Amino acid sequence: MSQETLLVVGGAGYIGSHCTTLLLEHGYNALVLDDLSTGHREAVPEEASLIIGDLGDAALLNNIFERHDISAVFHFAALAIVSESPRQPLTYYENNVAKTAVLLQAMASHEVPCFIFSSTAAVYGEPSADVLTEDHPTSPVNPYGRSKLMVEAMLSDAAEALALRYASLRYFNAAGTDPSGRWGEDHRPETHLIPRILLGTLAHQGVAIHPAADVPPWIEVYGTDYDTPDGTCVRDFIHVTDLAEAHLLALRHLRQEGESLVCNLGSETGFSVRQVIEAAARVTGTSLPVQEKPRRPNEPSRLVASAAFSRRLLGWNPRFSDLETIIQTSWEWHKAHPRGYAQS
Ligand SMILES: NC(=O)c1ccc[n+]([C@@H]2O[C@H](COP(=O)([O-])OP(=O)(O)OC[C@H]3O[C@@H](n4cnc5c(N)ncnc54)[C@H](O)[C@@H]3O)[C@@H](O)[C@H]2O)c1
Repeated sequence: MSQETLLVVGGAGYIGSHCTTLLLEHGYNALVLDDLSTGHREAVPEEASLIIGDLGDAALLNNIFERHDISAVFHFAALAIVSESPRQPLTYYENNVAKTAVLLQAMASHEVPCFIFSSTAAVYGEPSADVLTEDHPTSPVNPYGRSKLMVEAMLSDAAEALALRYASLRYFNAAGTDPSGRWGEDHRPETHLIPRILLGTLAHQGVAIHPAADVPPWIEVYGTDYDTPDGTCVRDFIHVTDLAEAHLLALRHLRQEGESLVCNLGSETGFSVRQVIEAAARVTGTSLPVQEKPRRPNEPSRLVASAAFSRRLLGWNPRFSDLETIIQTSWEWHKAHPRGYAQS
């Protein structure tokens, strides 16, 4: 068991809370830095220390790095609502890019050697291939995706100049919740397909869900005329517990002097929006009314990963990412927490 101390920035969020738990289970000490802007105090495991603050606060960061011997930083903190980013581009660049530069600068001053970054499939933009490998051209179509690609570029430059090694992990659609039911997904508003279907199903059944989730008792399907088998968009869903596992493996890789890497994390299987709605109906036993809407701008018809590189390099082997398990674990959590973490 290791007694290394890790800093998890954004550890009170959906993916960060799952990852912090896994790190603790593997014997690491975890400090969580989070401003709780979209995260939840209740999502931070008791064994982790929560520091409430902003990742752009250089004085706070320097203080943390002076007081703790931190061997690696995980960086989950970001504004991450794709559709919001074109309306608030500067806020996205400030939070996701400028503040990450402050974090990296503080790490450099204290010679923290390893950085694990939450990147995204949104860096690819409109794909020109059915299955995306890491060498597919990057051409993001919104400020959110561009902010992540800018951080990737910043990391590459920083690693050239400094004693820093990093992993940029390009997640596809994170989904599912902790199979033991401790942590879940609680975004307000909720913009992700699977929780929208499941919260919508609860609302349809007459259960009071959190109003800030902003989910109606039906599901909207944006675009039914895409060039896909049933006309709806196709996405790659990866279970959050499998994502957490990949972070642990990336940490081990970097701590064993492995080279910096950029890799996809996806299940390598595409499901259409309609297929997801049908699978959810099988799990919940409820058919949610569907409202068909026109396409949204800049929505690729199909986004499916090749994760061959992650599997080969890290020995990653997703175990929970079949669609049924993803939906079942989410459903159990939402049924138990229809109003999210704070039941008020
Ligand atoms: N959820 C997905 O499907 C998905 C897909 C691809 C990439 N990502 C990336 O993964 C990361 C985590 O996503 P998530 O769904 O867990 O999001 P989330 O909103 O649940 O978690 C983000 C956390 O960061 C914190 N935070 C934000 N800005 C901060 C700041 N300035 N200082 C301190 N803390 C701050 C929030 O309070 C929150 O706890 C994000 O970087 C996101 O862009 C997510």
